Amino acid sequence: MTLPTRVKIVEVGPRDGLQNEAGTVPTEIKLRLIDMLADAGITTIESTAFVSPRWVPQMADHSDLMQRIVRRPGVAYPALVPNGKGLESALKAGCEEIAIFTAASESFCKKNINCTIDESFERFAPVVETALARGLKVRGYISCVLGCPYEGEIKPATVAEVAQRLHQLGCYEISLGDTIGTGTPLAARKMIEAVARNVPLKHLAAHFHDTYGQALANLYAVMELGIATIDSSVAGLGGCPYAKGASGNVATEDVAYMLAGMGRETGVDLGKLIDAAAFISDFLKRPPTSKVAKAILAKRAG
Ligand code: HMG
Ligand code: MG
Repeated sequence: MTLPTRVKIVEVGPRDGLQNEAGTVPTEIKLRLIDMLADAGITTIESTAFVSPRWVPQMADHSDLMQRIVRRPGVAYPALVPNGKGLESALKAGCEEIAIFTAASESFCKKNINCTIDESFERFAPVVETALARGLKVRGYISCVLGCPYEGEIKPATVAEVAQRLHQLGCYEISLGDTIGTGTPLAARKMIEAVARNVPLKHLAAHFHDTYGQALANLYAVMELGIATIDSSVAGLGGCPYAKGASGNVATEDVAYMLAGMGRETGVDLGKLIDAAAFISDFLKRPPTSKVAKAILAKRAG
């Protein structure tokens, strides 16, 4: 099996990471972080979520933030959108790419967006139609692809069915979320194999949280199948407010380091990425969870 030569990193720290902070991070800090990530060569930075501020107060500054991002050419700044109201706000704020999100688990879907999986598709159909008609790109997320905090095991066939529905709806890419990070490499591979029977591999992305320390191993396993888009979070920030105990996504520094070591292209400048990790970690007053960031920062400190 061969690994992809070029791997695209989708940075989700400003959204998936910061949505889970106990305190609210000021918009200025988020903007600086986003700019540092772009400067480090990341070309897709999920920046915020147009969700209800009652549900996720950390993303309440979505409109202000989206309007104030200083766009760099060649960089996309997508945002999560859960419904028509979210799309309306995203469009007003000048958002050019959205991500809709559902789950492979009914219980998680209910906790996260307060509807069944079928209802989520009813909600998303007009959202995607309008977004595409307005020239936006639409990504789709599936949570709980390798396990659910409420239902336990999730069948690969269920994930494959939801993925097919998102693809048919018009999502250019389906991001497969191991929300609680319980997956292991062979399970991750089986899940991707099942999904790839319904949706071509080039339209799939891996979104693995690192709660059980399996994310890098799982990523390697699915890259061997041809997965070439990886979601990750600077400094390993994050979790999910509706998955108790879930920790952050795999750290972008760890992914970038592993890929560079294997001679894969990502376009990421590791030194500048570490600067971004140090910046947000200093603000949050805790070290990055990334071992790579910790090692490089310790070396820098001499
Ligand atoms: P609901 O309560 O069923 O919605 O929530 P509603 O339509 O009844 O509205 C309730 C109130 O929210 C109303 O305000 C609406 O106006 C307002 P009120 O009249 O009570 O003052 N509202 C909104 N406000 C702003 N923007 C909106 C919006 N929609 C309604 N878009 C809803 C349904 C979907 C809104 C809610 O459940 C929600 O916002 N959920 C978001 C949860 C979330 O953000 N979760 C984390 C992101 S997903 C994730 O992390 C997983 C992922 O990383 C992949 C993985 O790792 O698995 C993507
Ligand atoms: Mg996530």
